[in-house]
This record gives sequence, structure tokens and C-alpha cells, in this order.
Amino acid sequence: MRAKSQLFLPLLFLSLLLSTAEGAPKDADWSKIVQNEFVLFYPGVASWEFLNGEDHRLGGREIKKGKKDCRHCHMSKEGALDLKAAEIVSGAMKMKRSHNPFEPEPSGKKGTMKARVQAAYDSENVYVRVEWDSKGSGWRSKGDPDRVSVQMNRAEPAFAKYGCFITCHNDLNTMPDSPSKKLVAANPAYNGREDVRLYAFYAKSSWAASKTGGDKMKTGLIDLKSIEFESGKATFRDGWIFDDRVWEEKDAPASGSWASGRYSAVFKFRLKSSDRFDVSVGEGDTIPIAIAIHDEGAAKRKHYVSFPLTIGLGAPAEVRAVKLSN
Ligand code: HEC
Repeated sequence: MRAKSQLFLPLLFLSLLLSTAEGAPKDADWSKIVQNEFVLFYPGVASWEFLNGEDHRLGGREIKKGKKDCRHCHMSKEGALDLKAAEIVSGAMKMKRSHNPFEPEPSGKKGTMKARVQAAYDSENVYVRVEWDSKGSGWRSKGDPDRVSVQMNRAEPAFAKYGCFITCHNDLNTMPDSPSKKLVAANPAYNGREDVRLYAFYAKSSWAASKTGGDKMKTGLIDLKSIEFESGKATFRDGWIFDDRVWEEKDAPASGSWASGRYSAVFKFRLKSSDRFDVSVGEGDTIPIAIAIHDEGAAKRKHYVSFPLTIGLGAPAEVRAVKLSN
């Protein structure tokens, strides 16, 4: 078992420890809300195809059966991560059968990082706050932003078990089997665009396949929200993933900043949203959510990801949203 971590053990930080100024929205007093710490790991090019294939051995066989989730095999009861993330990022580890590298572009990055997650809700909105230690290179410069993204879906069992891995494929932009820009642009479905973006495995079988999962859109659509940090500014984007990753053109509130060696980002979204591209949650619901962090200006796939976790609004979950009186 590798380094012990404190996953899922709620840590009650005293208000003294948490400086309230940075990024705290008016809506909640975060210093009074429990912080839950999660370990995120560097996945390299571990894709949905890897996870379902022979390279993943026992894991692949079990995922095909759809029973055991990632945490069943990769996390101890105490919440310690059991996954060789440091060997992935350093390039030391190869896949068992194919001998393909888990990371064809090794770096000296860490294999894991920690994020602290809090949640609250009132009669109108849900607030999810993510905080992590960082040098803040995106915040302090221009051109290579840092970013936190969340994916959420309440209806699809595969999302609750495997999280964002169901949207990650070998043929995505910067992944090993990514088609050339020319080939993508020549495919009419891409309208001249040159990159293949995240898609859910049940929406299409490969980048070039025509859409197959149309009927599944109601349950299979994954809500995507992101806060990007660049040049002292936080920018919020709202989107979704199904057969493609799409950013919506809409105003959506969020806040975030970097100070004293850490980022804090607060997602704010409507309770009982009727927007079909947004996750709709109400009192008593549990939201499966997966978190990805691009730190130190990392782009595309070079991020840290979480296994899916749950946020509960008056329901049992790893992160219990606190009800605010308003
Ligand atoms: C049934 C158990 C099982 C499940 C479920 C499972 N894995 Fe694995 N996983 C394994 C085993 C066993 C290995 C090591 C394979 C080997 O080296 O023979 C492994 C290896 C890996 C590796 C390579 C790094 C390492 O530590 O060996 C990654 C990355 C990985 N799994 C990610 C995942 C993710 C993400 C999920 C969920 C989508 C998942 N696994 C689900 C059993 C599982």
C-alpha cells in the first residue's frame, strides 16, 4: 500500500486555519463548512479503452461486467489510493500486455495531489468549492491558465462508477491514437474543426463513428463546468459532454482566486435547473461528480483526476452539502 492519504475523512478546519478572504463568495461562510480531502492522480494516457482492455487485466474484465467500480480495487477502506501514479507520470511504467507507455511524454511532476471539497445549498443554488495548494502559475501569468473542471451526471450508472474515464478515449486530441488534424477537418461531422474532444462511450464508438446514442441523451448527458485562472482573473465556463464536448454561450456565476499558495474555486449552479444541459438536483438528491485539475499551466490531458465522488443535498454522501438559511 502506498502513502497513506486521508481520503473521505472529513476534516473540520477551524476558521482560523482558513483565511476567508480569498475567493469566498458572499453566499456561504466556507470557514464553517467541513472540508473533505480527496486525492487526485495523474492518469497519463489511461483511457476507457485501456480500462476495458487486456492491458488492465483483472480490472478490464471486471469493468466489462460493470460491477466493481474503480475504488473497489484502487482504494483501501481507509481511503488510501492504491494506484502507481508516480510511476505513470515519470514514464517508468508500461502497460502489461502491449508494453505501451502510460505516459509517452514523461515529466518530473508529482503522481498525485490533494483537493479539498466543500458544498452548500440554499433555496436557489448549489455551491461547490474546490481548494488546492498551487504555485499559481496560471494566475500569475498569461497564456498557460490553471483550471478546475467538474463533470456531473445523476442518471448513468457507468458515470457513478467510473466518472470522467467514460469520456476519455485513445483517439482524443493529444492521446496516442489521435487522428491527424487534416483527417478530422475532412470529416463533415466536425465542421472543419481539427480536434477530437471528450465523448461518452455510449454516445459514439469512436471519433469517426456516426452518433449512435441519441436516445441516451436524456440520461447520458454529462454536465461540465470549469473555472479557469489566468492573469489574476477567474473565468467560468458551462458546457456538456455527450457525443462531443461543447461549451455553451451563457452567463453563469462562479468565483475563484489564488492567494497564499492555494487556489479556491466556487461553482454555483441552480437548484432544480430546467436547462437540459445542466444537472438537475434538489433536496434529498445525491450528485455523482468527478473533478479534474490542470495545475502549473498543464494543458489537455496532462491533468490530475479524481475517481467519482458524491455530493449529498440532505442525503448521505462523501461530501455533505450544508443547508444555508436564507
Ligand atoms: C477489479 C479490479 C479493478 C477495477 C474495478 C479497476 N482496476 Fe485499475 N487495475 C487493477 C489491477 C489489478 C491493475 C494492475 C494490472 C497489472 O499490473 O496486472 C490495475 C491497474 C490500473 C492502472 C495502471 C496503474 C497501476 O497502478 O497499475 C490504472 C491507471 C488503473 N488501473 C485505473 C483504473 C480506473 C480509473 C478504474 C475505474 C475506471 C479502474 N482502474 C478499475 C484492477 C482494477
